[in-house]
Amino acid sequence: MSFKIKNNVFWVGKTDWELRKFHGDEYSTHRGSTYNAYLIKEEKVALVETVWAPYSEEFVANLAKEIDLNKIDYVIANHAEIDHSGAFPELMRHIPDTPIYCTKNGVKSLKGHYHQDWNFNIVKTGDRLSLGKKELIFVEAPMLHWPDTMFCYLTEDEILFSNDAFGQHYATEYMFNDLVDQTELFHECIKYYANILTPFSPLVIKKIKEVLSFNLPLEIICTSHGVIWRENPGQIVEKYLEWANDYQENQITIIYDTMWNGTRMMAEKIAYGIKDADKEVNVKLFNLAKTDKNDVITEVFKSKAILVGSPTINRGILVSVAGILEQIKGLKFKNKKAAAFGCYGWSGESVKIISAVLEESGFDVIDEGLRMMWNPDDEGITKCVEFGKKFATDISF
Ligand code: FEO
Repeated sequence: MSFKIKNNVFWVGKTDWELRKFHGDEYSTHRGSTYNAYLIKEEKVALVETVWAPYSEEFVANLAKEIDLNKIDYVIANHAEIDHSGAFPELMRHIPDTPIYCTKNGVKSLKGHYHQDWNFNIVKTGDRLSLGKKELIFVEAPMLHWPDTMFCYLTEDEILFSNDAFGQHYATEYMFNDLVDQTELFHECIKYYANILTPFSPLVIKKIKEVLSFNLPLEIICTSHGVIWRENPGQIVEKYLEWANDYQENQITIIYDTMWNGTRMMAEKIAYGIKDADKEVNVKLFNLAKTDKNDVITEVFKSKAILVGSPTINRGILVSVAGILEQIKGLKFKNKKAAAFGCYGWSGESVKIISAVLEESGFDVIDEGLRMMWNPDDEGITKCVEFGKKFATDISF
């Protein structure tokens, strides 16, 4: 399947309705994804990106129906990650001498993955490639999402090929932002930002400002995942600036795991206390053993504060809690407050362990946390409620 985007620009990618995990098992894709590749048929023909490796034969066979592969003058590798470059070995088997345009780091990554010495041509920000009347202008965008990443811009058609940036893991046959369910779309956008781009927020702001400073008119953003932004493409750029600026909503998220329900009871009573003290705040609870970790990260991203709970086991914490804390540490959230809680039977280290990781992860830990021996009794329940009230009050200062 292919379709026209504008004039001589066509989508030639792959919609992956089956995908449920991405980056190995690291990212859940409840709504599948797309690997967007684009064919620009001007006097010169450029192919922008390919697709993930399992679909390489299908991709090249479909591409050959669109155009004689030998008529492709340039292959543009905006990003070497396998979901975009996976079809290179199959494609280059047919056209081994066709030049590939990418950044210096792109060459390293592509060679590192495929161990091939293809006809690489290194480009930098501001370099131009003539397609005849129109040109491609390259913009390096390191760490959005890998060191090799770049964007390219097609003059006259005013299309930015933004690779991972502004994308979503969202399979749809509609393929344009104005045609899809907006709630689904923006949920997938914020989940993608929260889980993938959060650590690079300062670079996101810098890169968007740099691109805006070029004063290039922008009609369409062709991302490499999910929908193409053709209606008001500036809206997703504005959202990125908002999300990159230490985004938070009036939300407190309580995440925990529990063995015999003591820590769950604590979580629920703390939530009751928060709500009692602040009727406006949105309190959400998630048992980490039962909830998709990327959905949890999205909720943490939206929160002004989090509470993390685990009982003590073997002088440590439960695996589900340790796992999410490792993920949180890597994402480098900023401007969020936190505290820990948990039940124990004898040694009771969990609260200290969680608090230390939260501190190390850049959270403002505003309370030494709440430990409770065995299951909370009436007095314990009261302590949890009071702890929640105090937390809700203290985070306002
Ligand atoms: Fe869609 Fe960083 O790859």
